[in-house]
Amino acid sequence: MIFAANFKTNHTRASTKAYIQTLESLAQKVENPIYVFPPLSAIDDFATSKLVVGVQNAYPARNGAFTGEVGVEQLEEFAIKTILIGHSERREILGESQESVAKKFAFFKEQGFTIIYCLGEPLEVRQEGQEALQEYLFAQLEGIDLSYEKLIVAYEPIWAIGTGVSATTADIRATHQLLKKVITQAPLLYGGSAKLDNIKEIADISEVDGVLVGSASLDAHNFFAMIEASR
Ligand code: 13P
Repeated sequence: MIFAANFKTNHTRASTKAYIQTLESLAQKVENPIYVFPPLSAIDDFATSKLVVGVQNAYPARNGAFTGEVGVEQLEEFAIKTILIGHSERREILGESQESVAKKFAFFKEQGFTIIYCLGEPLEVRQEGQEALQEYLFAQLEGIDLSYEKLIVAYEPIWAIGTGVSATTADIRATHQLLKKVITQAPLLYGGSAKLDNIKEIADISEVDGVLVGSASLDAHNFFAMIEASR
């Protein structure tokens, strides 16, 4: 199981540092890498062996005139080689189109980054039925090289994000089966209200290769308890 923590706009520089130290020491016996995505302002050159620290977003350029953005040159200073792309909050709130998401993907692939690529549908689409769901999700894979060896995909139904209500195991299984028809190599994570209470049943779904966790990842001890509970 792959575990990834997306802090979103939570934690400070100081609390991120403490979190990373705590999780690093708790996770000494965990075999798979654990990904942590703090806010950009908290990024540092953390000395970690078990954790991989990545960014939630960056601009697809080495450097240049992109006011307010951070490029590869700034990430290199902290040895960051991992990025989240396509999160629904960036698509919906920040207005990132599939075209710009695909452009970002191509750029960071070219730079050799590990990419956790996110996709997921709003409730209205799911309610329209299977055909609409498939069309919507597959459109979010347009322009994405699914054979990229450093790709991890995360399926995050928007209606399950931050709501406390996870998708049912049947929904997760069915959607992962659908996605795995085209995502044949990359690991496929589930995200959306994954927490200590439901991690075991999510981890037991054979089509789930890991989880991308928001709220329940914010406490290092709670996040580690999820990792333990999944085993
Ligand atoms: P929650 O775990 O808070 O639902 O967030 C999921 C998510 O969006 C992770 O990227």
